[in-house]
Amino acid sequence: MAKIVGGIATSHVPAIGRAIAKGLQQDPYWKPFFDGFPPIRQWLNEVKPDVAVVLYNDHGLNFFLDKMPTFSVGAAAEYHNADEGWGIPALAPARGNLDLSWHLIESLVENEFDITTCQEMLIDHAVSLPMALLWPEHKDSGDWPVTVVPVCINTVQVPLPSASRCYKLGQSIGKAIEAWESDARVVVIGSGGLSHQLDGERAGFVNKEFDLKFMESLISDPAWATQYSNHELIEQVGTQGIELLMWLATRAALPGKVSKLSANYHIPISNTAAGTLLMENS
Ligand code: DHB
Ligand code: FE
Repeated sequence: MAKIVGGIATSHVPAIGRAIAKGLQQDPYWKPFFDGFPPIRQWLNEVKPDVAVVLYNDHGLNFFLDKMPTFSVGAAAEYHNADEGWGIPALAPARGNLDLSWHLIESLVENEFDITTCQEMLIDHAVSLPMALLWPEHKDSGDWPVTVVPVCINTVQVPLPSASRCYKLGQSIGKAIEAWESDARVVVIGSGGLSHQLDGERAGFVNKEFDLKFMESLISDPAWATQYSNHELIEQVGTQGIELLMWLATRAALPGKVSKLSANYHIPISNTAAGTLLMENS
């Protein structure tokens, strides 16, 4: 059976892609953010996952407001990135993992998650940035050390799935991975958050106190955030900060207790409280 080696959660601000393209990792503005990644890359070099299940939200590249599935799972042999207008160079395509995709789709539907199946799927900055941050030496050649299964959670157009529903989805994903007949090593990646609001009266809003409490809860009391409605969460973390649902679902996919192997939190990157967290089963 497949093994879940751990979970990585990270924010995904588009400006990070421009900073990578310009080599600004040591620039004083960027360094506190990029410094969160060497420990995670070192861990990846040690545990050597073969597959990444990436929980993320699309921002209008693959799904537009006219058709918006709540949960969708990729089942493509290859996933292409494309220009979203942020000025980020397109990432080399990611290789899919059809075997895990279809196993996950079948397991989730059997477990009463009526997901949308995508045999074609463009991946936006929410997938391309984590990949470029975690495996920077592969981003141009495309010889990624992992195959990918993208799982998209709608956090863009209301109504959004609740924290408690996303937690259950994560649990169901974790159980499906562990029941997959494969000797693959799987890492779960959650991309989004932490607190941020890009528009309206509260543009620029961040909430350090809540973000840090939330990060800590994923280790000590993983279902803590499920006590909140999405309305309450958006009050706490901003309209786009609701992307933290990806962190929650990622944690829920990890079986049993986890330990925190590394964490980073920095305010702000663009309009976002940028965090990274590496969790391993303890
Ligand atoms: C920003 C953050 C996001 O999560 C996103 O998807 C786009 C932009 C930002 O802070 O600029
Ligand atoms: Fe986003």
